[in-house]
Amino acid sequence: MANPTPQPIEVYTSLPRERDAIGEITRRAGVFNAEEVTTVFELFDDYLRSPGSGYNFFSAKVDGRLAGFACWGLTPLTEGTYDLYWICTDPEQQNRGVGKALFQSVETAIRERNGRMMVIWTSSTAEYHPAVNFYERMGCSQAACLRDFYKPGDDLLIYQKDISKNR
Ligand SMILES: CC(C)(COP(=O)(O)OP(=O)(O)OC[C@H]1O[C@@H](n2cnc3c(N)ncnc32)[C@H](O)[C@@H]1OP(=O)(O)O)[C@@H](O)C(=O)NCCC(=O)NCCS
Repeated sequence: MANPTPQPIEVYTSLPRERDAIGEITRRAGVFNAEEVTTVFELFDDYLRSPGSGYNFFSAKVDGRLAGFACWGLTPLTEGTYDLYWICTDPEQQNRGVGKALFQSVETAIRERNGRMMVIWTSSTAEYHPAVNFYERMGCSQAACLRDFYKPGDDLLIYQKDISKNR
């Protein structure tokens, strides 16, 4: 049987009422511990309180339901370097282009601000292998590896994308 027609993906600036749904998607992703889920709530609250907090959130909706989100912002003390702090797709919606739509929207927003570089921190452990594959598909390359950064056997991988290209 042919695949059903893919649903359009809508990406927009996250709405205050999406706080709980964003927390729920983070929890359901299955890779983040309780402290990390709490951190997403804290960043979202900073984002709601002050637009200049340095944390921006984008949501992606499919068929009227929240399917994923991204959190990104200008890296403090840099000129034109932006961090992609979080990107997460609801497990039920993965591998359907939601992460790509979010990533590309963040990239466009960075370009619009004359940003030069996107930086992403991730972990070397197996549960982050899908994320690493995803970043590589999105044109990011590994810039650094700090052995045992998070804990013994869990390295920090820093990925980077040159945003100044293809302006
Ligand atoms: C990483 C993540 C955001 C990807 O989101 P997604 O919506 O499933 O990704 P997409 O469907 O948009 O895929 C985009 C591309 O990445 C590739 N990709 C996505 N997941 C992949 C995987 N597990 N293995 C290999 N490639 C993968 C897709 O094949 C696609 O490639 P294409 O453009 O050539 O077709 C998602 O897996 C996720 O939420 N993981 C849990 C949370 C997490 O680890 N976040 C990152 C750390 S903050």
